[in-house]
Amino acid sequence: MHVTAASRRAELGSELADRLDADFSTYEHERFPDGELYVQLGSLLDGPLVVLGDTRPNERVLETLIACDAGHEAGADEVLLAAPYLAYARQDRAFEPGEGVSSRALNAALSARADGLATVDVHAEQVLDHFEGPAVSEKAAPELATALGDREIALILAPDAGAREQARSIADRLDLPFDHLEKTRESSTEVSMAPKELDVEGDAVAIVDDIISTGGTMAEATGQLLDQGADRVVVAATHGVFVSGADKRLDDAGVDEILVTDTIPGDRSLVTAAGALERGVTRLLEG
Ligand code: R5P
Repeated sequence: MHVTAASRRAELGSELADRLDADFSTYEHERFPDGELYVQLGSLLDGPLVVLGDTRPNERVLETLIACDAGHEAGADEVLLAAPYLAYARQDRAFEPGEGVSSRALNAALSARADGLATVDVHAEQVLDHFEGPAVSEKAAPELATALGDREIALILAPDAGAREQARSIADRLDLPFDHLEKTRESSTEVSMAPKELDVEGDAVAIVDDIISTGGTMAEATGQLLDQGADRVVVAATHGVFVSGADKRLDDAGVDEILVTDTIPGDRSLVTAAGALERGVTRLLEG
């Protein structure tokens, strides 16, 4: 078995390869003068190939598709795509008449060149049905729980009902209580949260979610906790998207510490998601 990745993802790729007892190499990628992308995998392969891909907007998607295609050209028996963060999953259906279902379009394209898909904490499980072959999403709760384990946390809080399962899973591992808030999304950047009385006076609380994007969700939940006397708030998420302005928003809200995995690379992505990817790829290989 072989794992390949772009050089910018070499650390996660080689850790994944080690865990899978596979060979690892980075693929070459270049840009032609007209902006088109070129990918070459190099030597001929046999056995399965895992492409550590990137589906974030937008041209990384194309690079990932071409890398999967190169895998077939290089002779791989099957090409499995490990996409640590499966983007476009929040548009998993048409919310208004005539809207494009982005996740369906993306996964149709990925299905054309990848025989299987492993991702981590997909935003909505039904998105996996948009991929034609076998598709699995593994939880990063074990990795996040380990990272939170030595922070003297007293409560694990989900900022909305959708994150409750992740909060429960982390809380169970740490033998801590958990709760959730009720969030209403007002716009793509603004959320509101119903007030809820929480017994957090003087405590350190971890808020856990799948994604930090604009930071609005975590900022709003942090505000509630600090207003109720929490001593310290740690926010932890699988995917640190951090759109422009998110850092300031979290700082201004009084967040003490941010923990995210490296499904998306970044300065703060210090919790490795390699274990979650390994579990996903192994499930694909076991059929
Ligand atoms: C929404 O349902 C997700 O689970 C996250 O809560 C959301 O995507 C976070 O976005 P933001 O950081 O922009 O509030």
